[in-house]
Amino acid sequence: MKGVVLAAGSGTRMRPIAYSMAKQLIPVANKPILFYALDDVFASGVSEVAIVVAPDTGDEIRRAVGDGSQFGLDVDYVVQPEPLGIAHALGVAGPWVGDDDVLLYLGDNMLKGGVGSTVAAFRQLRPSCHILLSRVENPQRFGVATVGADGRVVELVEKPEHPASDLALAGIYLFDPSIWPAIESLQPSGRGEYEITDAIQWLLDSGREVHASEVSGWWKDTGTKEDLLDANDLVLEALVSEIAGEITATTVTGALAVGAGTELRGCEVRGPVVVGRSSVVTDSVLGPGTAIGDDCVVTGAELTRSVLLDGVQVETWKLRNSLLGRHVSLRGRGPDTAVPLMLGERSEVVGA
Ligand code: TTP
Repeated sequence: MKGVVLAAGSGTRMRPIAYSMAKQLIPVANKPILFYALDDVFASGVSEVAIVVAPDTGDEIRRAVGDGSQFGLDVDYVVQPEPLGIAHALGVAGPWVGDDDVLLYLGDNMLKGGVGSTVAAFRQLRPSCHILLSRVENPQRFGVATVGADGRVVELVEKPEHPASDLALAGIYLFDPSIWPAIESLQPSGRGEYEITDAIQWLLDSGREVHASEVSGWWKDTGTKEDLLDANDLVLEALVSEIAGEITATTVTGALAVGAGTELRGCEVRGPVVVGRSSVVTDSVLGPGTAIGDDCVVTGAELTRSVLLDGVQVETWKLRNSLLGRHVSLRGRGPDTAVPLMLGERSEVVGA
């Protein structure tokens, strides 16, 4: 079996951050989202992986992942010229996959329990397709499956108005080579994309076996700021304290991880909180669910449930539910109540 990890797409819901970087490289708990997928693929025993990249962000992903050896993987790259849908992206990687089975993993999806047991079940039972399902509160936003008592999928509907179940398709799929004629048969959907749900429905309509299982642990699609902050919370829940930097005159409750060369002085930390390398945080309150990247400078701020990418500078601002792109600068004094911001790379805001 080979792995195909998708890291192209338009990322419109992650703008403005996604204007200047691949959204799959946005960090969750200070590690790029894509790296969780690659770690999971490795753990499942699949070692040959193609990453599907977009023309404009492909180089950045190549630089971050390289030949894959840091993940124990052998990684190749395939360019999807246009973001024409998930089935299209897989189709572009078809010649690379050849006659093998394939594990398709959306590069901005995270799966707590991992895909290992599903890969093992697929290898044993060899259905045409195995999908992972997760119970969600708002199935209207997702592809939704109807599953029979025998665990086989009966029907799939993309973003149904009246969902037949609360079982959403997670962005991790296994296919045998019958997926290729299914993709060949597709027409673009109403939103102009080649949908993977339509390809799986084609398999069902042609009498093939599609198995499903529920994810163990949580699954998160990190396509929006809210989803990314949720994922950040979920990963930080398991944070183990580790202090490589220097901490002075600071009170800490909950888990705190601080990278080498970072200094925390005169702060109050209510973990879980993670701070990267070579950052300086002084006279600030860091609340639960906060992740500060490398080379940041935070002075007199109050941050709760916020993600700061590398090189961010924040002065006397209160932030909650915020996502700040690389080298964002918030200077002066912000509003008295905490604000939820989403700012693209190098944005600069000057308060009072
Ligand atoms: P989505 O988040 O569904 O789509 P998108 O990236 O176009 O984002 P938005 O809807 O906000 O505009 O994509 C899920 C994953 O699949 C993501 O990692 C990007 C990848 N993808 C591709 O590689 N090629 C594509 O054509 C599409 C649509 C997605």
